[in-house]
Amino acid sequence: MVKEKEKLVEKEELEEEVPKELEDLPGVGPTTADKLREAGYDTIMSIAVAPVAQIADSSGMTQAGAMKAQIAARNAMDMGFSTGSELVKKRTTIERLTTGAPELDELLGGGIETQSISETYGAFGSGKSQIAMQLAVNVQLPKKKGGLNADVVFIDTENTFRPERITQMAEARGLNPKKILDRIMVARAYTSDHQMLLVDKVDELIHRQGKNIKLVIVDSLMSLFRSEYAGRGTLAVRQQKLNRHLHSLQRLADKHNLAIYITNQVQSRPDVFFGNPTAAIGGHILGHASQFRIYLRRGKAGKRIARLVDSPCLPEGEAIFKITAKGIESA
Ligand code: GTP
Ligand code: MG
Repeated sequence: MVKEKEKLVEKEELEEEVPKELEDLPGVGPTTADKLREAGYDTIMSIAVAPVAQIADSSGMTQAGAMKAQIAARNAMDMGFSTGSELVKKRTTIERLTTGAPELDELLGGGIETQSISETYGAFGSGKSQIAMQLAVNVQLPKKKGGLNADVVFIDTENTFRPERITQMAEARGLNPKKILDRIMVARAYTSDHQMLLVDKVDELIHRQGKNIKLVIVDSLMSLFRSEYAGRGTLAVRQQKLNRHLHSLQRLADKHNLAIYITNQVQSRPDVFFGNPTAAIGGHILGHASQFRIYLRRGKAGKRIARLVDSPCLPEGEAIFKITAKGIESA
């Protein structure tokens, strides 16, 4: 037990030491840092990729000193390669979280995965937010019940989070609603920048407050981006920011072995006459970022049909589930 604690402390200290400014690099004091900045090397990344001789020349450091600073910069950037076996090992740590509907879990290969981004998209009322709230409850379940015995962050951009609905879902499973609500950290995002900032804050919740977060929900991912960048001319900027946002989400997922669930809207595609005339918004950037994309639509008698789209490792297919007073259930 004591050992474990020591290990934790050690890990935290290591995290603290990751250089962020030039001055954090070994052998780089304020004067050297100023010289480097004057020469155009103003970020850790720029030091990581510059020729050592030039770092030495422009800063007055020795070659050996410049080399040492560069190694530290490269370590900080985490620019290393991973071997295939390391990746296999990492994949074995993936955990799965139940959606509440066994058919839907099966479609996803056993539930939504940690280390991945799972996305649902579909029309109004198709069930995207209902799944979000159900996952926020389920992640708290013990592992043998399909949960991850953990806390959850809910980033709400449309003001759709409903504590009463969580209470209903918790009670249906015989759980204490207050305890369940206490472990859901809800943040309302008002702008896309705010939304992005909130994702960065999750790291702090984990490190500083020691929260055991295993699920981060963004409901919905695109609504603020969509309204803020409405004109055609702003699309490139929007996509750049979106790209950054998705990278931070993926980084969170990898770093803390947690699951990301995002919801998305559809846009009408008047140019498509055959097949389904709807597509997720967000373009290719989003299409490539989410490993699991699920298209949701309403079926008969309150049923919902989920279709897995473009999965790299699972067969395409459909699953039927339903939304009831209890939450997400088998149809
Ligand atoms: P938008 O965010 O508007 O794009 O839609 P969404 O896909 O997020 O829809 P959401 O998940 O909010 O689904 C709303 C639908 O869930 C309602 O129209 C109902 O059909 C169903 N629903 C929500 N609450 C209940 C409930 O307590 N009982 C039952 N039976 N159905 C519910
Ligand atoms: Mg919704």
